[in-house]
Amino acid sequence: MKLADKVAVVTGAANGIGEAIALLFAREGAKVVIADLDEAHGTAVAGTIRDKGGKALFHPCDVGCQADVTATLDAAIREYGTLDIMVNNAALMLPDSILDCSTEDFQRVLNTNLTGTFMFTRDAAHIMLNQKKGGAIVNFASTLAVVGSPGSIAYHASKGGIASFTRAAAVALMPHNIRVNAIAPGTTDTPGLRAGAAACGDVEKGLKDIAAGQPLKRLAHPEEIANVALFLASDDASFVYGATWLVDGGFTII
Ligand SMILES: NC(=O)c1ccc[n+]([C@@H]2O[C@H](COP(=O)([O-])OP(=O)(O)OC[C@H]3O[C@@H](n4cnc5c(N)ncnc54)[C@H](O)[C@@H]3O)[C@@H](O)[C@H]2O)c1
Repeated sequence: MKLADKVAVVTGAANGIGEAIALLFAREGAKVVIADLDEAHGTAVAGTIRDKGGKALFHPCDVGCQADVTATLDAAIREYGTLDIMVNNAALMLPDSILDCSTEDFQRVLNTNLTGTFMFTRDAAHIMLNQKKGGAIVNFASTLAVVGSPGSIAYHASKGGIASFTRAAAVALMPHNIRVNAIAPGTTDTPGLRAGAAACGDVEKGLKDIAAGQPLKRLAHPEEIANVALFLASDDASFVYGATWLVDGGFTII
């Protein structure tokens, strides 16, 4: 098992890619804290892990709220005694373009995606520093950190920020054997993507149209992104620092 006896906090783990990461990390021996706004699904994911003999707990958390960040990390230490892996996966996407995005919506997206990643990375890094045994932090960017599109201006800005933030945090934390990396997923079949696809009035048609625009003519499965998160969180990635891994079925190379 690649994560035996490790403790991981995964934000946004009640659904989608975060859920797949929580399930995979638990299968690989990690004790997992599921930090999410969605209590119903988060509790269910923790229950699934425990039913299979793993260790997991749900902790309610708004990643954009410092008190929740602190309480979540405290819960991890209280319950499992240590912190080895931090996955900043939770995110908010609003469709508004540069021409119609309000300042409030822009700040809301930045607060969840970028400030949430910042607070969890900083506070997790302090814990890891005190433990003196290193650690791994995996952030979530997007292909939209790399390419432009007409909408979701705040999301673009936040994901570009996360890629840059990841490089700078990696340099600062490298001397302490804390590896900070990011994943930039392509279109992945999750509740978040389905909500976006529903905008055309027919989810299945929306998903088909999105898949048709992909080089592989299909969406990623959340597990295909989780596999890369496992690699980056594990000792297999011992020489990987500050990278943003594109996991996009070739979307950005064509
Ligand atoms: N699905 C895709 O196509 C895709 C593409 C590129 C990047 N990503 C990125 O991958 C990550 C996961 O995406 P997904 O599609 O699985 O998302 P999703 O919308 O399906 O699930 C997101 C989870 O985050 C939680 N969440 C949202 N705001 C939160 C907050 N403030 N505090 C705590 N939890 C919160 C939600 O409750 C949900 O459980 C995100 O960072 C997203 O930007 C996804």
